[in-house]
Parts: sequence; structure tokens; C-alpha cells
Amino acid sequence: MFMDTNLDDTGLFPNLARLERETVLMLSKILGSPRGYGYIVTGGTEANITGIWIARNRYLKNVKGRPEIIVPKTAHFSFLKAADMLDLKLIRADITEEFTVDVVDVEEKISNNTVAIVGIAGTTELGTIDPISELSEIAVEKNVHLHVDAAFGGLFISIMRLIGYNYPNIGFENPGVSTITIDPHKLGFVPIPSGGIIARSRELFKHISVKAPYLLSEDHETIVGSRTGGSIAATWVMLKYLGIEGYGEIFKELLELKNYLVKRLEEIKSIEIPYVPMLPIVSFKHEKIKSSKLRDKLMEKGWILYLAPMINGLRIIVMPHLNKKVIDKFAEDLENSIKEIEN
Ligand SMILES: Cc1ncc(COP(=O)(O)O)c(C=O)c1O
Repeated sequence: MFMDTNLDDTGLFPNLARLERETVLMLSKILGSPRGYGYIVTGGTEANITGIWIARNRYLKNVKGRPEIIVPKTAHFSFLKAADMLDLKLIRADITEEFTVDVVDVEEKISNNTVAIVGIAGTTELGTIDPISELSEIAVEKNVHLHVDAAFGGLFISIMRLIGYNYPNIGFENPGVSTITIDPHKLGFVPIPSGGIIARSRELFKHISVKAPYLLSEDHETIVGSRTGGSIAATWVMLKYLGIEGYGEIFKELLELKNYLVKRLEEIKSIEIPYVPMLPIVSFKHEKIKSSKLRDKLMEKGWILYLAPMINGLRIIVMPHLNKKVIDKFAEDLENSIKEIEN
């Protein structure tokens, strides 16, 4: 129904613009603020670039040298793109044994040229959650922008917390958090392209606002021009249809499946799981076999797995189309693959 609508000009489709405001507010509330402001964009990459763009323009006047951003070593490669496009020096912060960012290292790396620090709530490879509240304290103290990349984990972590589970607060209740990436097209089960960039306040978007003289809406605050209303309508529908409760039920099932997958993997003696995250993702490795070799063998059997180079392993994201039968079959094929490689 919304394929032929375009939010390039919010003045041309005012009802759709209202739908976007409502959608963004729903996401913002899930992230702990009734006042957030933002846009439904193409995905986590665009959302991260937008967040860093806001940060750079916000603090550019404070820095004398080349502006810098500090991202954890676990950060998604979209930050490489952001740094390149925005001419920023990308500084990588160390990670701890738990594969979360070392906040002491972040603090030490902050310089007079730092415009932003980044925390990740659900890393791409392992699903680890950085200590956002500690990063928030640093951001306030040092007066830098804190962007949280919750592209993968934002909905899951925040909704589990809202329904009473012991998940960390990664949202706007942390006073230092300025912008958050949260992707409906990941654990929100909305079709691609549906990413989310939410800022603490509308004011923050003024830093990237440009005049669009011929449009009815006059101001433009997104990277792309034409944007399909389909993404907004689809996200609005999913958030309304499932609601906190509906998402919560699915997330609980995903956790159960993840635990089952962990159990089945642990039954294979030569398999190691260096870290079991609070998100529905499992990365594992074989004690001896190279991960790319194991991946190729599994591919011969019809399984396509991504590498998790951080641990020299392989990664599985547990989504609702998985079930215990599929996991059992995978475990069996994994065992056979190991045997075939060893013989
Ligand atoms: C943590 C994180 N951030 C950002 C992205 C980029 O998202 P997209 O592929 O929607 O641009 C990903 C993708 O996997 C991700 O895991």
C-alpha cells in the first residue's frame, strides 16, 4: 500500500510523516524516552553514519585538530565508512576478556579532538553488550557525544528489560546517551529496509539539517533523499501488532532455542563456546580446525554460516524460523563435518 509514497518531502505526505513520528516515538519509548526524535532509515549502516554525522557537527567547533571517534574493537564496519566519509580519525578501544569494551581504555583514549565515543548493545559477531551506563558517565564528564549502536540488540534488550528480565539499561535513561541505532529489520522482524536512528532530542538533528528550498517541508535531516513509506508503515504495523508483550513472547522463545543450541553444541567435545551472550546469537569454534575450513565443509552439507573472526569461530543468529529439529540436524551435520575433516 505504501510502495508509491515518498518521505523525501514530509510536506507532500503529511499523514505518512505523522506515521513516522509515531513509529519513532514507539521506538524511543522502548529506549526509555517519550521525547526522542529521529527517522526510519535504510538500516544500521545509515543510522550509524547519521549518529556520527550529528556528533561530528555538534562538536566540530570544540576541536582544533582532525576530529576523532573512539569505537570498540568489536564495532561493525559501518563505522569505518562513517569515519571515511566524515573525515574522522577512527580510534579503536580495547575489549576485555568478556568481549565488551574496556571503559578505562576508552577514557584514556579521549583527547581534545574526540567528538564521539561509541558503545555497542549487541555486537555483530558475539552479541556482547558494552557497559553503556559507564560510557554514559564518561560522555557526560568529558563532554563528548555517546552513540549507541543497538542495531541488533536494541529491541531485544530493552523489551526484555521492560517485561521484567534482568537486562542492562542501554537507552536514554543514561544521561550521556545522545543517539541510538535500533533496527526494526533485525530483531524487530520488519522487512528490509527498516533501520532506526533516534536522538535524545530534536535539537540534535539541527546539526545536520540542510535547507531544501523547493520542497514543501523546507528542511532535510536524512542522508538519503527519497525514502519509501513502506518501511515506516511496516515498522508501525509490527510494533502495533506485536507490542511489547508480543515481542517479549517471541524473544523468550528465541532464548529457549538459543539455550538448546548451546546445549547441543556443548555436547560435541571438541567445540568451544567462548562466550554465551544474553542475545539470541551463538558463536563457537573447534579446538583445532580452522573456522573457514569448518564453514566450507558445512556449506557442502547446505549450511551457510558466517565467520566470527573475533574468536576465530563461526556464528549462528537464532531467529524464529529455527526450531529444535533444525538444531538437532545441524548438530549432527557439524559432528559429521568434524569427523570428515579429521579423517
Ligand atoms: C551491530 C550492528 N550495527 C550495524 C549493522 C549494520 O546494519 P545494516 O546491515 O542494516 O546496515 C549491523 C549489521 O549486522 C550490526 O550487527
